[in-house]
Amino acid sequence: MNRTLVIIKPDGVQRGLVGEILGRLERRGLHFVAAELRSLDEATAARHYAEHVGRDYYDNLVRFITSGPVMVLVVEGPQDTWRVVRTMMGTTNPLDSAPGTIRGDLATVMAQNLIHGSDSAESALREIEIFFPHLDS
Ligand code: PPS
Repeated sequence: MNRTLVIIKPDGVQRGLVGEILGRLERRGLHFVAAELRSLDEATAARHYAEHVGRDYYDNLVRFITSGPVMVLVVEGPQDTWRVVRTMMGTTNPLDSAPGTIRGDLATVMAQNLIHGSDSAESALREIEIFFPHLDS
């Protein structure tokens, strides 16, 4: 089996879309290995988004992800789970996201794009370790 990290961002939790998003992942055939509603502190957000330090959107990104509760999940599937989830999410900018994707159906604004998913197998391992360091393999 193969795992990835998913975060339903504060806009998703606030808009009551957790069930909708989790339902989509489940209906695709993915399973949840860990799931927790959390408020992220700045240090955790900075660790998670470390590769984006220096980008013009970085401060907004950290401010937004720490602005309210998020749902953090480890999602498992048969193979390339990070890629399955990223395809389901749609493009980073919801303006370009295809209908049928999570962002394409449910979001319109770049800064409130509902969901984070690891962008590679390596990122998935790194991010799972940040949020669930004691998870059994
Ligand atoms: S990605 O998903 O990593 O390929 O996307 P990328 O374009 O590299 O963006 C990295 C994360 O920054 C977020 N982002 C922004 N947030 C707010 N405003 C602007 N302009 C913006 N541009 C990029 C983007 O959603 C990615 O965050 P996550 O949490 O991974 O979705």
